[in-house]
Formats: sequence, structure tokens, C-alpha cells
Amino acid sequence: MIDDLWYKNGVFYCLSVGTYMDANGDGIGDFKGLLRRLDYLHGLGVTAIWLMPFQPSPGKDDGYDISDYYGVDPRYGTLGDFVEFTHGCQQRGIRVIVDLVVNHTSDAHPWFRDARSSPDSRHRDWYVWADKRPASASKGMVFPGVQKSTWTHDKEAKAWFFHRFYDFQPDLNTSNPYVQAEILKIMGFWIQLGVSGFRMDAVPFVISTKGAKVRTPVEQYNMLRSLREFLQWRQGNAIILAEANVLPETDMEYFGMDGDRMHMMFNFHVNQNLFYAMASADSRPLAKALKATRPRPASAQWGLFLRNHDELDLGRLTKAQRDVVFKNFGPDKNMQLYDRGIRRRLAPMLGGDRRRLELAYSLMCTLPGTPVIRYGDEIGMGDNLDLPERNCARTPMQWSMEPQAGFTKNERPCSPVIDKGPYGYEHINVAKQRRDPNSMLNWTERIIRMRKEVPEIGWGDFSLIATRDPAILAIRYDWRNNSVLFVHNLDEKPREASFSVGLAGDEGKHLINLLSEDHSEANNRGKHTLMLEAYGYRWYRVGGLDYLLKRSDIDGVNANHPE
Ligand code: NOJ
Ligand code: CA
Repeated sequence: MIDDLWYKNGVFYCLSVGTYMDANGDGIGDFKGLLRRLDYLHGLGVTAIWLMPFQPSPGKDDGYDISDYYGVDPRYGTLGDFVEFTHGCQQRGIRVIVDLVVNHTSDAHPWFRDARSSPDSRHRDWYVWADKRPASASKGMVFPGVQKSTWTHDKEAKAWFFHRFYDFQPDLNTSNPYVQAEILKIMGFWIQLGVSGFRMDAVPFVISTKGAKVRTPVEQYNMLRSLREFLQWRQGNAIILAEANVLPETDMEYFGMDGDRMHMMFNFHVNQNLFYAMASADSRPLAKALKATRPRPASAQWGLFLRNHDELDLGRLTKAQRDVVFKNFGPDKNMQLYDRGIRRRLAPMLGGDRRRLELAYSLMCTLPGTPVIRYGDEIGMGDNLDLPERNCARTPMQWSMEPQAGFTKNERPCSPVIDKGPYGYEHINVAKQRRDPNSMLNWTERIIRMRKEVPEIGWGDFSLIATRDPAILAIRYDWRNNSVLFVHNLDEKPREASFSVGLAGDEGKHLINLLSEDHSEANNRGKHTLMLEAYGYRWYRVGGLDYLLKRSDIDGVNANHPE
């Protein structure tokens, strides 16, 4: 396969325009501000931006309640500003993917307003209705504790409507061919304005059967193929990154056996087990999760993330495992959310411990997939637990020591800037960290640069290397006649790791450290012995630094017998 599938070996960065930078002074981030910050993102080295919803919206779910799919919310700017932004990205070689939120609309959307107005209205069948309260109304809530039901009575419609999420987000009837045609039109529109694809919201719900009579929703996977076909025809290199927190058994249904469905999926399974590994210093369940999510078509990729704008969902761990993560990373009830997760940012979760932050980032960058960074995590931003639900981790970006962290000249930003405690903007900000060669920001920039120089992770096959110590995770990738090896110590104590690289002949004798001068030579039985400090990590090239001279043009060339 030609290795120019850009998403296979990139570094993604996720941000919402409203909390990034405010250029017109109304306290709300906007596209003009974001455009001015593109050089920052270019310098950081990210290859793609995932832009969260920015379309007109009542804003009751941070924009995931859209009331017009073909516009820009006036608070953020105009369509003209949007195109300036995608053009600015293109000039810098940065791709843009935008959210595709089509499981539901806002209840303020004209389609829903029309639908509720009469049973004969044009859009009635665009939503999901019932005359009586369905028996399943108290089941399947996505936000337990906050959301009371999945069906709500609408006075105007004189009927009940289905909503998988909050009651102001009526579900679209995605089986309706008119709705399906409209979804394609929405994709076509944004593609035309310069985006390279979509982060598709709530995919399992979009494709599942919906209705009062549906007892067990069934996913209609073939719908994914028609989305893909349309997209690929309109723009050959555009992608869909699916948000689907599903079990590994169904991963291939989402990717498609022939790689004909989703290009990328977030790896929620690895995400949860990764946090468990960091909390327990036991890498075994993580190793199992890596193996369980190994199968994927050659053209598909995982999105590897630590934190995002939602809670850290631990719903798929065992209760005992979840309790360990809660105890270590979110012990107070106020830090937890929806009975299943933690709503904090990464840095406070890890106690602001730089060693643990680097370990977490190093893992995210070296596990199979493309890393997806949450804005602000590159400087170790904190959270504000006084804000409700997930808003605690959606505070404005901290740029400098200027008032309001340099985010806005307005005294009342849309969300309060963190200005107290160790994560206040006077301590944690971009301007300060840029001047400090040892800052988190400069470390992140260097690790991103190195990550981009190791395409073996994105493209190669991996093997987990046995070390007999559960606190150590060692993983090797092989691709086009080269190998790389990564070793992580999850424990708070130093650990000695002893292993053989697992390649035939003399191949694994020399390990060249990519981040420091301590290289490793195998003993005469072919074993390496490393002393890893607490939370230590190592990135190695196997063999030597002549890897680019050794690289073959096709896959499957034996390391011992190059072309
Ligand atoms: C998933 C999004 O990540 C979340 O923020 C949102 O609330 C729901 N989908 C509903 O759109
Ligand atoms: Ca503004």
C-alpha cells in the first residue's frame, strides 16, 4: 500500500472555537481568533485539527444541539471567516475535520418545529414519534442521573418523541431516506468549504433501529458504507472518524471487512484500560485490550486519546477495576459523573506530576494508532469543578499572564478562566512555557516531532514483548524492514526490565535511544537489561540510525534479507 493515507500517521488536536481565542472582544472565542493562533498549532506540529460543533445552536449541549447544519453560529463568526480558517490551515499543511452531529438535532431546528406542528407536516417522519409513552422510556439514557428518560411528551405535537440524549435533542429518524439524503448533503457542503472529513458523533445510535416498538436496537452497519462511498467520491482523501464506544467484537463491523466503512475510530477500549494500567501499575488488562483491538483493515486507523471534552468513561471496566481508577484519579463524588466516569482534566488527575504526564503522553504516542490531543493538555491545564457536568474541562485556553489568560479582552468570558490555585493561568500558560526549554509545552512539541518520525507505529504490526513484570509494557513495531521498540514503567518505583527484542539473528542487539544518549546493547544471550526510573519510558530504534537507508518500499520484506 502506498503510505500517503495522511490519517495513519498524524497527530490530531481537538478544540472548540468558543474557548480558544476571542478576537472581537465579546468574550467568546471565534474563527478570527483561531486563525491568528494557527501558527501556534503549526509550531506544535499537529497535522490535523478536530473542530467541535460551531454551527448555529442554542448551546445547551456545547453545540451538540444544532439548529442549522449549513451555517456558522454568529457568535463564532461567518461562513466567510470559516473559509479563511480552513484556507489558513491548508496553507500550513494542517487538515481540518469537523463534527458531524446527525443522530439528533436541537429542538429549535426548523425541521423539528415543522415536525411537531402537525402529523401531516413535511418533516414529521424525520423524527421518531409514539402516541403513548413507550415501555422503554426509562431505559437507555446516555446521561444517567441528569437525563430522566429517552421519550418525552410534546404538547404541541400531542405525541411522544424519542431522544437518546437530552430532551432538547430529538433523534432524527435516520432510516428515513430523506434524512439519509440530507446527511450526505451536509457532508458535501462542508467538504466543499475545505474540510478533510468528519468526526462522526454517536455512530452506534445513528445507525441503530429506532422506534416505540424497538426492544433491542439493531445496528444497520451498511449505512456506514453509503456514507463512505459518497465521501470518497466527493473527495478521495477525506475521512470519517467514528465516535463509537463499542466492544472489540464489533470493531470490524464499523471498519468494514474490506475497509469500506469507517476510516478511523476512537479506541475507547484501550482508553479505559490505559487509565486502569496507570492507576494500578498493572499492564496486563491493557495488553489484552491491545490484542482485542488489533484486527483492523490496512487502510483503517485507531484514534488514541487520553482525555477529551466528555467524561472519562470507565463503563466497560469491571467494577473492581473502575473502583481502582476512581480511587486514584477521581476519589471525590464531585469528580465523578454519570455513575461511570471521571470528569477531570488529565493534569489534575495525575496530581500534576510531570513524570506521570510524560508517561501518559508517551503511551498515547506509542500505542497503535494516531494520537488525539485535547487542547490545553499540552501545557497541563486544569479543571474547574464548580462548573456543572462536563463543562469543568471546557474552560478557555490559557495563553498568557494577561487578564483573562490572554483569551479575551472582555471581562466576562463565556466560561470563566481558571485563575486560582496551581492550575490558574498565572502559573499555567503558553507564553511562560514557550520561554522555558524544560516546560511541558516544549516537551510535547519535541515528542510530537519524534512521533511523526516514527511511521512504524502508524503503519506497522505490533508485538508485545514479554518481560515477566506486569508494571512494564514493552511493544515492538515492524514495518518495511525496520523495527522500533517502546518500554514503559507504570510503577511509582524504579524497575529493572529484562527482555529480548524477539527478532531473528543479530537484529535486536543494538537499541538506539531516540530521546537520550543511553542506548542499550544485548548481552551474549541476546538479552537487554534496562533500569527504568519511576514512571520511566524509553523510545528505541532497533539496529541503528541507518533506518531510512534500510527502509523498503513494500511491506513484508524480511529484516534480515532486505530487497
Ligand atoms: C457525544 C459528544 O461527544 C457529547 O459531548 C455529546 O453530548 C453527545 N455525543 C450528544 O451529541
Ligand atoms: Ca468573539
